Amino acid sequence: MITYGKFNLSNYADCLIVTDEKIANLYNISGSNVFLLPRGEAAKTFEHAQNLCRWFLQQNLGKDGKVVAVGGGSIGDTVGFACSIYKRGVSLLHVPTTLIAQIDSSIGGKTALDIDDTKNVVGSFYQADTLIDVSFLGTLSKKRYFDGLGELLKYRMLSPTIDKLAHSNNMESIIKGCVTYKDELCQRDFTDQGPRNVLNFGHTIGHAMELSLGITHGHAVALGIYYEIVIAHKLGLCTKQYVDKWQREITNLFDILPMNNKMMQIMQQDKKNKDGKIAFILPTSFQPVYLTQQQIIDLLDD
Ligand SMILES: NC(=O)c1ccc[n+]([C@@H]2O[C@H](COP(=O)([O-])OP(=O)(O)OC[C@H]3O[C@@H](n4cnc5c(N)ncnc54)[C@H](O)[C@@H]3O)[C@@H](O)[C@H]2O)c1
Ligand SMILES: [Zn+2]
Repeated sequence: MITYGKFNLSNYADCLIVTDEKIANLYNISGSNVFLLPRGEAAKTFEHAQNLCRWFLQQNLGKDGKVVAVGGGSIGDTVGFACSIYKRGVSLLHVPTTLIAQIDSSIGGKTALDIDDTKNVVGSFYQADTLIDVSFLGTLSKKRYFDGLGELLKYRMLSPTIDKLAHSNNMESIIKGCVTYKDELCQRDFTDQGPRNVLNFGHTIGHAMELSLGITHGHAVALGIYYEIVIAHKLGLCTKQYVDKWQREITNLFDILPMNNKMMQIMQQDKKNKDGKIAFILPTSFQPVYLTQQQIIDLLDD
């Protein structure tokens, strides 16, 4: 269930709460029922998921217990994974605190860990509840906020309704628009076999950018979109005007960084690939398109 409202810590005294040090300090989250994971992507390892499960056990968390994950997508992905395997599943409430987590990662039940250089290679589908409290966004750094705008670009290009909402500057209704859009897709296709694929738009090149350049997720997705629409245009899937319009929007928000060689190796590992070809979700059909490395190089070559 997805609800909107104020997160009030005292309502969760009988739950186990997982967050990170920064959020704990900012929002006075402390007590013997609180566990701190490292900040950001560093949390998404087997080691930290195991530490968390060990703590669940020490706290005598039973099948009927409840865990609350307060944080960004990294906290949500790690806690979601631990909750999905601990005693084969304990109930979880996501309380997303970043814009990316509120519009995207806390919805749809995907959990994930990284192995070395490969992002999200381990994971599960595990349904959780979500409580969205937009007041958390007030303490985000400008960089983190813009990062959320990167993921929002994806929704704006997928849904004219969300694009219209994005011009209203009413963040609460923009978030609700994205959540409703994603939730509807995930209800139809929880395990990502078909309709849900569209949410991977911008993410083939995006994930490779994120890992090879060490940039944040939303920035990387925006750059992924920047280059993937060029491929779409060269394949005759969208007009030059479409490319120009969205590339202008992206350039206004982010530094445009060049593609590099390492990205091709990373893209070759993408979960969506088939028969050794790299999968892209391209506008305006948003159907998967499979390309070889050489085709990608040729299409992006001016
Ligand atoms: N499971 C999914 O469906 C899904 C979807 C999108 C992204 N993701 C994953 O989410 C991760 C990115 O998540 P993210 O962008 O939310 O960042 P994050 O969770 O990696 O890091 C957030 C950083 O911002 C800080 N922070 C969080 N909330 C704050 C607040 N309210 N005020 C001040 N600081 C705050 C945290 O302490 C941390 O340092 C990536 O690993 C990505 O792969 C998962
Ligand atoms: Zn994303």
